[in-house]
Amino acid sequence: MDELTKLKQELKNLNAEYAKIKDIPAEKRGEFGRELNAKKMALLDKIMKAEEAQFDAEVKPLDITAPCAPNEPLPELYSTLMGSRHPLMVELDRVIEIYKLMGFTAVESRQLDDEYHMFDSLNFAKEHPARDGYDTFRTEEGFIPPAHTSTMQNRVLNRFKHKLDEGKEIAVVVPGRVYRNEDVDATHEHTFYQCEGVYVSPDCNMGQMLGILREFFEKYYGQKLNIRTQPGYFPFTEPSLEFMIEKPKSLGGKKGDFLEMLGCGMIHPNVLKMAGIDPQKYHGFAWGGGIDRLVMLRYGLKDVRHFEAANLNFLRNFK
Ligand code: DAH
Repeated sequence: MDELTKLKQELKNLNAEYAKIKDIPAEKRGEFGRELNAKKMALLDKIMKAEEAQFDAEVKPLDITAPCAPNEPLPELYSTLMGSRHPLMVELDRVIEIYKLMGFTAVESRQLDDEYHMFDSLNFAKEHPARDGYDTFRTEEGFIPPAHTSTMQNRVLNRFKHKLDEGKEIAVVVPGRVYRNEDVDATHEHTFYQCEGVYVSPDCNMGQMLGILREFFEKYYGQKLNIRTQPGYFPFTEPSLEFMIEKPKSLGGKKGDFLEMLGCGMIHPNVLKMAGIDPQKYHGFAWGGGIDRLVMLRYGLKDVRHFEAANLNFLRNFK
């Protein structure tokens, strides 16, 4: 039996002694207990030292005399341990950078939100079936991991409406992580990223919105694109559109291969009103779309599940 096992056995025997306390006459009980405790402390101390000794014996000592080549690339093990940024974060920075060049400010969304920002402030009527399209999760306290970055619209409008009084426009993008109660497959994830855009001024219009979106996608993919819209429905915009781009040849697309990239439209007057902006004086447009989808097209990825799988073989491709 090795030293450590012997000590642990001793400790077990000693612990059994504690059961005798109740049979010791009351006047001797105190002394008996104190002695037992002292023995136990000493034993625990010995066990700790024995465990440290065993650990030291198992760990190879560091050889500080080993030759060192500071300019050699690091061995594979180290480069793995050091890690790298997640591709979605790198791409999200690229997205924000393009919008910044167009004069937008970026504000990050929240990962826990509430009923008001998720639905009410976005003109979803109570009990309206449109709420079902945004099935997400809830905490026991009733908070909601947001199903879209539109939850930030009311906050953005409130926070920046002073700009309108100053004769400037509101121009904000909101990148963020969102959650949906999805059956996960190659094109659906329960966790993904979106980027929202919000623009308000006295006289903005749909043509400007389409111009901004075209500019964004052409910058992001580095080429001219054919775009198309079709009518959509969102309670928070009127009219609402789905914005599509034709998948470029260089990314494996054929003529007529249109992909829906985001939802957009003119901000509904009720949404402006709820943020204290007079819809008679100001107009706005907004859009929101998935970042994962954007990145998948850029890199020809077929399965969205890669992004959340924490698979190093996948992630290393983006170092
Ligand atoms: N939030 C919508 C979604 O996730 C997308 C969207 C549509 C955002 C229209 C907008 C908008 O800002 O105006 O399906």
